[in-house]
Amino acid sequence: MQLGGTQWGTVWLAALLTLLLCSSLKGQENSFTVNSIEMAILPRNEVQNGENLTLQCIVDISTTSHVKPQHQVLFYKDDVLFHNVSSVENTESYVIPHARVYNTGIYKCTVILNNKVKTTEEYQVCVRGVSDPRVTLDKKEVIEGGVVVVNCSVPEEKPPIHFTIEKLELNVKGSKQRKKKTSQNQNFVTMKFTVEEQDHAISFQCQAMIFSGTHMETSKSIKSDLVTVRESFSNPRFHISPKGLITEGDQLHIKCTIQVTHLAQSFPEIIIQKDKVIVAHNRSIEAQFSVMAMVEHNGNYTCKVEASHISKVNSIVVNITELFSKPKLESSATRLDQGEVLNLWCSIPGVPPANFTILKEDTIVSQSQNFTKVASAQDSGAYICVAGMGKVVKRSNAVWITVCEMLSKPSIFHDSRSEVIKGQTIEVSCQSINGTSPIDYDLLKASNLLASQKIGSNEPAVFKDNPTKDVDYQCLVDNCHSHAKVVSEVLRVKVIAPVDEVKLSILLHDEVESGKAVVLRCSVNEGSGPITYKFYKEKEGKPFYQTTLNDTQAIWHKAKASKEQEGQYYCTASNRANLSKNVLQSNILTVRVYLAPWKKGLIAVVVIIVVIATLILAARCYFLKKTKAKQIPVEMSRPAAPLLNSNTEKALSDPSTEANRHYGYNEEVGNHAMKPLNENKEPLTLDVEYTEVEVTSPEPHRGLGTKGTETVYSEIRKADPDFVENRYSRTEASLDGT
Ligand SMILES: *[C@@H]1O[C@H](CO)[C@@H](O)[C@H](O)[C@H]1NC(C)=O
Ligand SMILES: *[C@@H]1O[C@H](CO)[C@@H](O)[C@H](O)[C@H]1NC(C)=O
Ligand SMILES: *[C@@H]1O[C@H](CO)[C@@H](O)[C@H](O)[C@H]1NC(C)=O
Ligand SMILES: *[C@@H]1O[C@H](CO)[C@@H](O)[C@H](O)[C@H]1NC(C)=O
Ligand SMILES: *[C@@H]1O[C@H](CO)[C@@H](O)[C@H](O)[C@H]1NC(C)=O
Ligand SMILES: *[C@@H]1O[C@H](CO)[C@@H](O)[C@H](O)[C@H]1NC(C)=O
Ligand SMILES: *[C@@H]1O[C@H](CO)[C@@H](O)[C@H](O)[C@H]1NC(C)=O
Ligand SMILES: *[C@@H]1O[C@H](CO)[C@@H](O)[C@H](O)[C@H]1NC(C)=O
Ligand SMILES: *[C@@H]1O[C@H](CO)[C@@H](O)[C@H](O)[C@H]1NC(C)=O
Ligand SMILES: *[C@@H]1O[C@H](CO)[C@@H](O)[C@H](O)[C@H]1NC(C)=O
Ligand SMILES: *[C@@H]1O[C@H](CO)[C@@H](O)[C@H](O)[C@H]1NC(C)=O
Repeated sequence: MQLGGTQWGTVWLAALLTLLLCSSLKGQENSFTVNSIEMAILPRNEVQNGENLTLQCIVDISTTSHVKPQHQVLFYKDDVLFHNVSSVENTESYVIPHARVYNTGIYKCTVILNNKVKTTEEYQVCVRGVSDPRVTLDKKEVIEGGVVVVNCSVPEEKPPIHFTIEKLELNVKGSKQRKKKTSQNQNFVTMKFTVEEQDHAISFQCQAMIFSGTHMETSKSIKSDLVTVRESFSNPRFHISPKGLITEGDQLHIKCTIQVTHLAQSFPEIIIQKDKVIVAHNRSIEAQFSVMAMVEHNGNYTCKVEASHISKVNSIVVNITELFSKPKLESSATRLDQGEVLNLWCSIPGVPPANFTILKEDTIVSQSQNFTKVASAQDSGAYICVAGMGKVVKRSNAVWITVCEMLSKPSIFHDSRSEVIKGQTIEVSCQSINGTSPIDYDLLKASNLLASQKIGSNEPAVFKDNPTKDVDYQCLVDNCHSHAKVVSEVLRVKVIAPVDEVKLSILLHDEVESGKAVVLRCSVNEGSGPITYKFYKEKEGKPFYQTTLNDTQAIWHKAKASKEQEGQYYCTASNRANLSKNVLQSNILTVRVYLAPWKKGLIAVVVIIVVIATLILAARCYFLKKTKAKQIPVEMSRPAAPLLNSNTEKALSDPSTEANRHYGYNEEVGNHAMKPLNENKEPLTLDVEYTEVEVTSPEPHRGLGTKGTETVYSEIRKADPDFVENRYSRTEASLDGT
């Protein structure tokens, strides 16, 4: 206030500056806040494909300022920013002209004001339907079998898009063909359609489908332009000649023709078929089947014309009138015996004036309707008749004639050149050399049917058999001939039984007294004669007796047996049938020969004399020297002191050993030998005394096992003279050496 009004202009300026400063200070303090933010989707949040779609972001801002604040508005679709604008307006719009399926999504907007950010809730926007597809074709005219390329596109949409293209025939409801395809990267597809023979004027329609979020959006079906189809060839046509009634013998022509368009590059193939059999074919505009008409040519003929994709078919029934029926051949019989009359005749119902021929396996046997002949085996076979009228020739059924030749008497024989051995299998053969086969052979064995065979030729029938005894065989043969069975001769087969179970036994007595007869019998259980028997003494290589007999036993005997006959014997028997080289051998039989009582006595006397002489000699010697010796017993005396030693004690103390010595010669008796000696019928009493004498053997011929010594027992009973008969003396020679 000190300015005094003089500097008024300066003050005014200062006041203005202050005001301005004040005003600027006031502006800095202005406050902004976003009250609300929301989105408006116009006209709706669900629109049809192609409609304009407007998205509005409406912001309500409060401020202390007089000026509208600047803020940023951001638009998002599916969380992706697609529009960013700076604005001072409350409402900011985003226009989508012609909404498409891909505009479907979730939208929101955000406002940013002085670092304050506020976002709307999310808004679902749906675009319904797909924009119309465009269908274009590569041609307006096509030939049958040709290909049309269809292009279907939806330029406004984004892939992936599923396309469906259908082929339509003009004025026909429904589609003839439908194809589907999905394009992943482009908004169009191209598809090829082949034109078929039934197609005349065709068009195509296309529909597009797009998957949007949760469901399929589908376009309208859009049709293409018309395509005119040109035939490559016409439907086949038949031309039959002659026209009208066709009779057998006529020349029949079945022709099939087509017309071919000038556009075709090559001819299709024409095929004439009768019941699946191709009778004519041609790669041309026609095919023809020419034949002399016969009823067999009646039927349904089909003409097929085929190009790569096209096939056209036509059919016609051809009816040919029969001139005469098939001839019929008959015979009096189909099976005849040789010598009987064969009669064949051929006929046609209605008896037309035809020429006849009768053939046997392509050989003419008769030029007439009938054929008669005395049958022989060569006349067997198939006969047919051929009837002809002009050019028409017909064959009859075949008649099989069998002429049977009688069988010749069959021969019967067997394979073994020599005799048949029991147990061997023989082959008996029967053969009828002449006569019609098949031949039935029956083999009779002892008048009983053994086996039967059917032989398809005149080769022999071979039967196997195993005869066990002499037997008669006979054959019966039979064939188609009416004669009864023919019988063969009798075949007699001799069967030799090999020898079986050879046994050697001794007759009369088991033990032979020397001087008496020894009789050995070699017998067989079974065997066909003649049988060769051989008697052997063991250790001798050669038989001492051999004979051939028609008997099952052979006897050898020696009238006067001596010690020489003592020993072990066996025999063999063989006949023609001994199959193996091993000739059957009998058991081994031991023959013992004992001394006659008078010989024993003689020996005893000799021994006693020797003993007495020895005693006398000894006594004299003794008396001469010491005159003492009187102790030696009279009964028992021994020729040599060393031999006397322990043999006496052994004989008495070990009777079983002694018994073994006595009886060991025979196996059968050997069992008894194990029993104590006193069990014998004649019990050994203490009265019995033994005199054992060992003598050097003078006979080296007794075999290898023979010991050089013989022990002679002299058993003397003190007792009754009645028992003299029971006295015995045994001579044991260790012949067996076992
Ligand atoms: C859609 O918008 C375009 C301009 O973007 C306008 O020409 C047209 O008339 C609108 N269509 C409708 C149906 O409003
Ligand atoms: C929006 O645009 C402005 C300027 O063009 C830019 O600075 C800003 O970062 C944009 N916002 C976003 C979120 O991209
Ligand atoms: C099919 O048509 C579309 C548009 O109509 C075009 O872009 C595309 O190239 C065509 N495709 C072919 C193979 O002609
Ligand atoms: C095939 O066609 C030719 C020409 O069209 C014709 O001359 C011929 O006879 C035909 N052949 C047959 C077997 O039809
Ligand atoms: C002839 O055969 C064809 C083909 O097999 C068949 O379609 C047609 O019906 C038959 N015609 C007659 C008259 O049987
Ligand atoms: C063939 O023709 C005869 C008459 O000529 C007739 O009786 C017969 O029924 C015909 N057959 C067929 C299959 O048409
Ligand atoms: C042929 O044989 C048949 C039957 O035996 C007889 O009826 C017919 O008259 C014979 N025909 C001739 C031409 O001999
Ligand atoms: C039968 O054959 C004779 C001689 O070959 C012939 O002249 C005649 O025409 C024939 N008859 C018939 C009906 O074919
Ligand atoms: C078999 O037939 C021929 C000639 O046909 C004859 O020579 C021979 O004797 C006949 N044989 C027998 C065994 O009948
Ligand atoms: C055996 O018998 C046959 C005939 O049965 C005879 O030929 C043969 O001579 C006889 N042999 C002896 C050794 O008796
Ligand atoms: C049977 O045995 C005897 C004697 O060993 C021999 O000669 C003969 O060849 C044999 N016979 C047969 C068929 O084996």
